[in-house]
Amino acid sequence: MILGLLKEHGNETRVALLPEIVKNLTGLKVEVLIEEGAGENAFSPDKDYVDAGAKVLLRAQLFEQAEVLLQIQPPSDDDLKSVKSNQVWISAFNPLSNKELVNTFLDKGVTTFSLDMVPRTTRAQSMDILSSMATVAGYKAVLDAAMKLPTFFPMFMTAAGTIRPANVLILGAGVAGLQAIATARKLGAQVQVFDVRSAVKEEVMSLGGKFVEVEGATEDKAAGGYAVEQTEEYKKKQQEAINNHAAKANVVICTAQIPGRKAPLLIPKEAVDNMMPGSVVIDLAASTGGNCELTKDNETVVHNEVTIIGESNYPDQMPVDASRMFGKNVLNFMKLIIGDEGALNLNFEDDIVEGTCITHNKEIYNERVKSTINT
Ligand code: NAI
Repeated sequence: MILGLLKEHGNETRVALLPEIVKNLTGLKVEVLIEEGAGENAFSPDKDYVDAGAKVLLRAQLFEQAEVLLQIQPPSDDDLKSVKSNQVWISAFNPLSNKELVNTFLDKGVTTFSLDMVPRTTRAQSMDILSSMATVAGYKAVLDAAMKLPTFFPMFMTAAGTIRPANVLILGAGVAGLQAIATARKLGAQVQVFDVRSAVKEEVMSLGGKFVEVEGATEDKAAGGYAVEQTEEYKKKQQEAINNHAAKANVVICTAQIPGRKAPLLIPKEAVDNMMPGSVVIDLAASTGGNCELTKDNETVVHNEVTIIGESNYPDQMPVDASRMFGKNVLNFMKLIIGDEGALNLNFEDDIVEGTCITHNKEIYNERVKSTINT
């Protein structure tokens, strides 16, 4: 297999493979070509890739020579013009929301894999880029809040008096939420947590957070560890409880999501009106509408002296470890499609290969994408 590692577009600082992972791939007899400067924003110069066994070329040459093209971000219009029907495109392109892009790939007959569609099964955990990036985001969100907060996170007993610890409210205890709890606790804050899935209560408590229970949540084991839509009665009860906690919080970290839907609204404007001056809301769900009514995607809004941050790409602010985690996920996925002597081997009998494949031979493979495109 000849794999082409592309440089990301625009302000993206991550790269899909660090040199250390390229070494693993060349060890599996994969020929790796990298676009000039692909890793420079993640502090990985071309020379390190060459030492790992890669060849450095121009972008156009990668599109000419590679069998498989790899990039984190979705393709640009120019990429779509350059990619050929006999090539495989691997990136994270959110096919559930990007109908037009899926149709373009279909028309061109390109084989595509979208790593954000890796099934959330035990075997696929080591390939789950969403979990990796949510871990980075949960960590960075808390650090960002701590930097913006006009008060300390930990309790201090000093000659100048006692400083109370910060109150941090975390909405959603999935991957990002659990990492946020761990980070806020390490910084010495008191942490309260809401989630509609009671299964997370023990994990929250084991990290030192306080799980706030609201009775009557709808849970569905078949949803595979994800939340489902709640009844109006539950939403009302939960809203009241969240409003009360938000009014006492110095920091609110929003991470609640229901896959494939707009983010649930949990912090309405009235709740922000009642928050303390100087408090900070970090809304990780900004790109899907936000858990806070006042969130603006990729913007910081100040309302009544409350700062609401809608940063949608925290991993971009930590390019080395974010790229390291992403690349390790890619390597584990690639191992499923690397055959003897490093040859490309697309085995659609494998449920992970089949579930992650979006288009192949002018057909849509992923069932969820198929039903979205056909509606
Ligand atoms: P996840 O699905 O693992 O966790 C979401 C949690 O929210 C689940 O535990 C779910 O039960 C809970 N939840 C759903 N509805 C709720 C409600 N009404 N009240 C309380 N809890 C509720 O998702 P993950 O991977 O932790 O991602 C969280 C969010 O962070 C997503 O919106 C994701 O897109 C975003 N994200 C943001 C990044 C950034 O840089 N801003 C980077 C990575 C992810």
